[in-house]
Amino acid sequence: MALITAFFLSGLYVLSTNMVREYHYVNSPKTWAGAQTFCREVYTDLATVESKEENIRLLLETQEPGKLAWIGLYDDTKSWMWTMGDGKFDRENSFFRWERNEPNNIGGKQSCVVMNWVGFWRDEICETDRPFVCPSKYILVDTFMTWDVARNYCLSKYTDLVTVRNLTENEKIHPMLARNVWIGLRRNFWTNWSDESLATFKNWYESQPDNSGSTPASCAAVDTTTGTWANFPQRTEEEDTR
Ligand SMILES: *[C@@H]1O[C@H](CO)[C@@H](O)[C@H](O)[C@H]1NC(C)=O
Ligand SMILES: *[C@@H]1O[C@H](CO)[C@@H](O)[C@H](O)[C@H]1NC(C)=O
Repeated sequence: MALITAFFLSGLYVLSTNMVREYHYVNSPKTWAGAQTFCREVYTDLATVESKEENIRLLLETQEPGKLAWIGLYDDTKSWMWTMGDGKFDRENSFFRWERNEPNNIGGKQSCVVMNWVGFWRDEICETDRPFVCPSKYILVDTFMTWDVARNYCLSKYTDLVTVRNLTENEKIHPMLARNVWIGLRRNFWTNWSDESLATFKNWYESQPDNSGSTPASCAAVDTTTGTWANFPQRTEEEDTR
């Protein structure tokens, strides 16, 4: 689908979250972040859509067919999490060793992480079969498995897929490697609405979402003719103020 710049997108805003959501179409082109700020000030937040019925009701409010309007769904492409530990994740202080231009989420489908034989990391499609490393004395399992199957194997035989907390640990692992292996780092796609609620219902175009690149976030818009959703890159704050 053609890329339409954020400046041509309007927003759908939600007023009340009392049982029945009330949607308001605002025909005032803004970036996703600009729309979010506006509607948090004037209403409650960008639109959250939790069911097919809500998506239909939202469509009835848009009035202008053939447009794209922002909704509150976004993909936090930096939300990496190690499988082991308490789930808390400190982005600033966490150790990462990405290859140049990685992670790039090619095709919007890469959410699991491999380490290569020199110790650098990249994101890959979780369904790829690869060897993997289990802790804690760094056990290389040279059998090809998908990330999920590899994780279950490590959980049943050891503790989990390996967590790499610093360069010292990274340097202990890669000399064992002949090829890319799974490590215990991944992220989940399109998990949250702008109001922080968990996104369960989705209404994407068939080929969507396909966000790729290293933008910090990607955001969803609804087609006001069909009610189908598409993803667009989030612009930076800097670009927003231009
Ligand atoms: C690396 O992390 C491990 C686990 O937290 C810790 O025991 C070790 O001291 C750390 N090494 C360095 C050099 O920071
Ligand atoms: C997403 O929503 C869940 C459930 O409300 C919440 O626990 C989590 O912190 C949210 N994630 C982000 C990145 O805001």
